[in-house]
Amino acid sequence: MKVLIFDNATEAVNHAFSIVREQVVNKPKSVLGLATGGTPIKLYRKMVADFHTSAINYKMVRSINLDEYIGLDYYSIYSYAYYMDYNLFSKLNMDISNTHIQNGKAKDLKKECIRYNKVITDNPIDLQILGLGQNGHIGFNEPGTSFDLETHVVELDESTIEANKKYFGKLVKQPTKAFTMGIKSIMKSKKILLMAYGESKADAVKRMIEEEVTEDLPASILQKHDDCIILLDKEAASKLSKR
Ligand code: GLP
Repeated sequence: MKVLIFDNATEAVNHAFSIVREQVVNKPKSVLGLATGGTPIKLYRKMVADFHTSAINYKMVRSINLDEYIGLDYYSIYSYAYYMDYNLFSKLNMDISNTHIQNGKAKDLKKECIRYNKVITDNPIDLQILGLGQNGHIGFNEPGTSFDLETHVVELDESTIEANKKYFGKLVKQPTKAFTMGIKSIMKSKKILLMAYGESKADAVKRMIEEEVTEDLPASILQKHDDCIILLDKEAASKLSKR
């Protein structure tokens, strides 16, 4: 695990962007594992700005998203499918058939998990981008989730529902269940890039980096990955004992 601490999130995002860009330039058919939430938004904006001002080409890039709310699909502005299209896919020259996300409206949840696992197996992830939940989750793998799981259905933690309330309209019924890629699949990614910004992540960051590897803090498993880079701003790094 390589930990890089920046003065602010903008500098960290610049670094994240250079890693993603290098990946796509070196391997135009890269498979990118993508995350949602507030954390990667600035990275996606930089990718879009770069696309409009350089010769970078996303035509052959494939993408696999981490998670999706059960009950929501592209037709809801609160779905992760909509988020991805709005923030990234529609603004790059990606082929939409190369982009993958769980179908939140799938009738048979088990079958959807099986389908998604095949997508992941058929498209081994070159670079996985991760955010970090305040409770240490990655994707929607909540504390207590087995490290051995592949795509599965989760009951979201109360704390996660609370943390994500800000992304939902006041009158909208917030989903309590989601599909998530499992830790086992995340760990198979060739390279992992986790970003965490702000003081609200400081406790989870400390446990992820400095404490034991435990299913109680899902992101701690990243200590065991061979090529994992953690990008932090000063606030997220503020509780680390070593610099
Ligand atoms: C969300 C997502 C995660 C994300 C994390 C952090 O619930 N499922 O993929 O990385 O929690 O969210 P944010 O970046 O908004 O702080």
